[in-house]
Amino acid sequence: MKLAVIGTGYVGLVSGVCFASKGNEVVCVDMDQNKIDKLNRLQSPIYEPGIEQLMEENVREGRLSFTSDLQEAVRRSELIILAVGTPSLPNGEANLQFIERAAADIGEAMDGYKIIVTKSTVPVGTNEKIRQVIASRTSFSFEIASVPEFLREGTAIRDTLKPDRVVIGLDNPGLEGVLTALHRPFTENIFVTDIRSAEMIKYASNAFLATKISFINEIANICEKVGADVTEVAKGMGSDQRIGSAFLRAGIGYGGSCFPKDTKALIQIAGNVDYEFKLLKSVVEVNTGQRYNVIAKLKESLETLKGARIGIWGVSFKPDTDDIRDAPALEIVETLIREGAVVKLYDPIALDNFRQQFDHPGLHWCSSAEEAAGGCDAVCLLTDWHEFKEINLHKLAAMMRQPVLIDGRNVYGREQIEGTGLEYISVGRPH
Ligand code: UGA
Repeated sequence: MKLAVIGTGYVGLVSGVCFASKGNEVVCVDMDQNKIDKLNRLQSPIYEPGIEQLMEENVREGRLSFTSDLQEAVRRSELIILAVGTPSLPNGEANLQFIERAAADIGEAMDGYKIIVTKSTVPVGTNEKIRQVIASRTSFSFEIASVPEFLREGTAIRDTLKPDRVVIGLDNPGLEGVLTALHRPFTENIFVTDIRSAEMIKYASNAFLATKISFINEIANICEKVGADVTEVAKGMGSDQRIGSAFLRAGIGYGGSCFPKDTKALIQIAGNVDYEFKLLKSVVEVNTGQRYNVIAKLKESLETLKGARIGIWGVSFKPDTDDIRDAPALEIVETLIREGAVVKLYDPIALDNFRQQFDHPGLHWCSSAEEAAGGCDAVCLLTDWHEFKEINLHKLAAMMRQPVLIDGRNVYGREQIEGTGLEYISVGRPH
């Protein structure tokens, strides 16, 4: 099919590239000319393993192109995918300004029948608004569908090429054939439903995963007090198929551009219809508290944070991404600075993004994990980058002023710590 994808963020770019790799003719559109110039030089504006190679292959085969000309892209396409951002407003609600603007632009550009598919995460009822915005700007007929995206950063290409399921929300059964045919090269597991349920499935899925994380984090906090080991507990729980082992890794809480934003948006969606989503409110509260446990553990080990030298390993919200949006590291580092600590930061790729968000004379930017640890009173591992697993912990202990290692992601086993002389404090495991 001929597709236009509006928005070249994670969802838009990865979907565009993957649809092209299945033989569709795809044009990716963004109003940011700098991004388009970069894409035309075959450089990805997002860090995602494997994306540039796939871009290069599909551009070479003539199936993929990039433009800032939305009108032209809409005219030459049969199906238009909306993949613009829906960031949080200060009250937690999703900001639909970019969606509405794109819908209006599509309406104005239309020169014939089109199918419009929303992949952005949007509150229930938004697709109906999109329909109204487009209808108010064109007399051509069109159809709307909701096909939410479930890809994860860092594994976005694999998730898109081999998804667990594809959810298609539509209200005209006539669309089912064309949309299932478009997605069948990715999976046979296609669930067709109505538009409002599809919109809700996306929020409910993210809220449920966030709930699993906050649940295991609270179990970890209790384990610390009763002398149990949360990694063993998660294994034992997870082998029950009804529970499942995924998303039961205790740590310093979830971050990123999705869970924090979508949990708050769902609380608002419920609030707008006079329903208090008590469980989800607690999930969010527990998640914030989990970040501050790192500070509490540091204070317990060091007499004071004032003047303490703290090494930070990892600032991105998870490994294999340079994304620091809502990363726990931001709040942790800001608190350390407020408490008068000197902070040495290292991350394999996310330091530039971090510095743009938060800079301070008390921060030292380091080019290796060892440099960040040297002379420190404590090191806090905040992101489980693979390279941290390979560090020689004997050498680490020797290069620190006080050998305290706070492992926020439970990366190391007891056998790696034994004999190193490190004071090792992890999450929900006996020390
Ligand atoms: C998440 C969902 O997993 C995707 O399905 C969804 O499409 C995406 O949001 C979105 O809505 O766009 P993502 O935010 O990229 O994907 O990352 P995840 O791998 O889900 O991790 C989110 C956070 O949870 C990270 O900070 C991670 O460290 C944390 N986490 C994850 C845990 O603390 N414990 C776990 O067991 C799993």
